[in-house]
Amino acid sequence: MITEKILKKHDIHPLLQERWSPRMFSDQTVMESEIQLLLEAGRWAPSSNNLQPWRIIWGAKGSKTYDRIFECLDSFNQKWAGNAPVLMLGAFKKTNAKDKENFHALHDLGAFSAHLTFQAQSMGLAVHQMAGVKHEKAHAEFKFTEDYHVATALAIGYYGGDRSDLPEDLEKIETPTSERTPRKDFAFNGDFKETKNTSEENK
Ligand SMILES: Cc1cc2nc3c(=O)[nH]c(=O)nc-3n(C[C@H](O)[C@H](O)[C@H](O)COP(=O)(O)O)c2cc1C
Repeated sequence: MITEKILKKHDIHPLLQERWSPRMFSDQTVMESEIQLLLEAGRWAPSSNNLQPWRIIWGAKGSKTYDRIFECLDSFNQKWAGNAPVLMLGAFKKTNAKDKENFHALHDLGAFSAHLTFQAQSMGLAVHQMAGVKHEKAHAEFKFTEDYHVATALAIGYYGGDRSDLPEDLEKIETPTSERTPRKDFAFNGDFKETKNTSEENK
C-alpha cells in the first residue's frame, strides 16, 4: 500500500512542484502573444456541460484597462499587484442555457485559472490568484450584465524582481509556502471523516 509517508511533493510533476504565488515579479514584458496563449490554455479547461462560463477581462501594464482592473482590487492586493505586468479579472455566468442557476460555474472558472496557471508555469510565468476584489465595483466598471459575477483576479508576470521592493510585511512572507494539509485529512477511501485542517505534514 502506498502510504501517506511515501509519496511527497517531489513525486509530482515539476511544473506543480515549482509553482508558487509571488507578489513580486520581474519587470520583463509579457507579450500579447503570450497572454493570448495563456487564455488559449484556459479555453481548453473542462467545464460542466461544456458551458465554459468563464469571462475574463485582461490588461497589460501601461494600459487604461490595467489601471481599471487595479482599481477593482482590494486595498491589501493593491499593495503588491501593481508589480505584475498583466492583470486579469475572472468572472462567471451564473445561469445555464435554461436560465437555471449553474452551480458549477465558480468551479469551472477555477478550472480555467488552473489551466492558465500551469501553461504559465511552463513558460516561466508566475500567476498569483486573488479573491480580494471589489466585486460590485468590477461588475459595474466593466459593464457586466446582471447574469455575471466577478469572482477573482490574477496577477501574472515572469518570476523575479527584487523582493526588498515589497512593503516590509509582504517581503517577510515572499517565499514559496511549504504548508499543505496531509492527504489523509482530505482524501478518504471510504466514509468522510471530520478532520482538522492541519498542514504540518506532507511538505
Ligand atoms: C481563489 C484564490 C484566491 C486567493 N486570494 C488571494 C488574495 O486575495 N490575495 C493574495 O495575496 N493571495 C491570494 N491567494 C493566494 C493564496 O494565498 C496562495 O495560493 C496560497 O497561500 C498557497 O500558496 P502558493 O500558491 O504559493 O502555493 C488566492 C489563491 C486562490 C486560489
